[in-house]
Amino acid sequence: MPTFRAPRGTRDLLPPETAAWTRLERLAADLATRYGYRRIETPLFELSDVFERGVGEVTDIVEKELYRLTPRTDDGESWALRPEPTAGIVRAYVQHGMQTWPQPVRLTETGPMFRYDRPQAGRYRQFWQWDIEAIGDPGPAIDAEIIELGARFYRDAGLAGVEVHLNSIGDPACRPAYVAELTDYFRDHREALPDLERERLERNVLRLLDSKDPAMTGLNASAPKITDRLCAACAEHFAAVRAHLDALGVPYRLAPGLVRGLDYYTRTAFEFYVTGREGQQQAIGGGGRYDGLVELLGGRPTPGIGFGIGLDRLLLALSETGTPAAAEPDSVAVVVGADPDDTVGRLKVATDLRSAGIAARAELGHRKLGRQLEAAARDRAHFAVVLGDELAGGEVGLRDLPAGTQKLVPLADLAREIERAHGAHRHGAPES
Ligand code: HAM
Repeated sequence: MPTFRAPRGTRDLLPPETAAWTRLERLAADLATRYGYRRIETPLFELSDVFERGVGEVTDIVEKELYRLTPRTDDGESWALRPEPTAGIVRAYVQHGMQTWPQPVRLTETGPMFRYDRPQAGRYRQFWQWDIEAIGDPGPAIDAEIIELGARFYRDAGLAGVEVHLNSIGDPACRPAYVAELTDYFRDHREALPDLERERLERNVLRLLDSKDPAMTGLNASAPKITDRLCAACAEHFAAVRAHLDALGVPYRLAPGLVRGLDYYTRTAFEFYVTGREGQQQAIGGGGRYDGLVELLGGRPTPGIGFGIGLDRLLLALSETGTPAAAEPDSVAVVVGADPDDTVGRLKVATDLRSAGIAARAELGHRKLGRQLEAAARDRAHFAVVLGDELAGGEVGLRDLPAGTQKLVPLADLAREIERAHGAHRHGAPES
């Protein structure tokens, strides 16, 4: 048993898994750029108030899952690790006066989030999200654009059969009457409610609808549906979101019970699920509109919408559906030498290759040439650059390891030669 282990609910990401990880991050960054989203980085911790007000005090995330940091001084402010990025991004939008920028402000952030939840497969205490936010556009067209972007990301990542679950959860005009009706409904079933739900009934009844407690499944299925109670403006907005999705050819399933686990949502709410996977309870991504959040965090009333896609769950889904993980890039060249002690010579040649843009490493131990070559083959390098007696005449051996061939190359031409032969090899062309 090692003395120290990664904290419960966290994990170390190791190669080769990190190669698959890098691929997803690049894909997310490329798509974000293509859709006009620019990168933002917010701190990993914020004033707890940002989350309490933003996400909502009576939510699992704030009540049970927030990692609060111990204040350093008596009068210290209360901080918490971010459980999600939206509240922090909106805090930054207000703080930096982004309402004076051209609207909507399209922002993207990728990074770790922290929730003190009970760990299980696909649920971690530190997990990664790719987040997209468009602040300053009431929709409905941008709602469809964002949902289409999320669906495209899964497709491009190689995950087939991702289903969009879509709902509208109303706004301050129509939700209060619905909340009152829902409260009456659950009061009638008070005895059947688990303790936490009974306690939340009077404080935040919507949270009962996304309860993780299996005892709630039947009750929730028969509960009144918000979509039957939308005001005219919300109903029109919702119809237009659907019309835009239809026009884009993005399939979705209406999910009248979907309310999301965070309080800031208004109108459009959506989640991504992998279809056909038995027992699949967890969304692999989700988001929605938050037209009241900017004001809640001290800004002028400004609409917004976004999503968060869980990268851990996406990778898990990719491996469960048998999608091959990204191959690790093989190193191109390893510099070896006949003189085990000439580390200076090997390091210099490798450094020059790297200056020329080639992925190269040198054998820096003092092993015999045979051992150095074995290590190069183990690394699945394409070439071994062999420093021997010919070095005096300005030449080195260039061994193509998979092909088993070797030739002498002037040191001055080495980088160019490697680049040419490696490019031809990668593209399947015959090498001369
Ligand atoms: P969320 O639904 O709480 O939304 O989280 C988004 C995604 O993060 C989930 O669908 C899931 O894939 C992943 N996730 C959440 N918790 C965990 C966990 N404990 N372990 C692994 N993955 C997890 C939000 O966070 C909103 N900020 C999304 C949003 C952005 N809404 C508007 N803009």
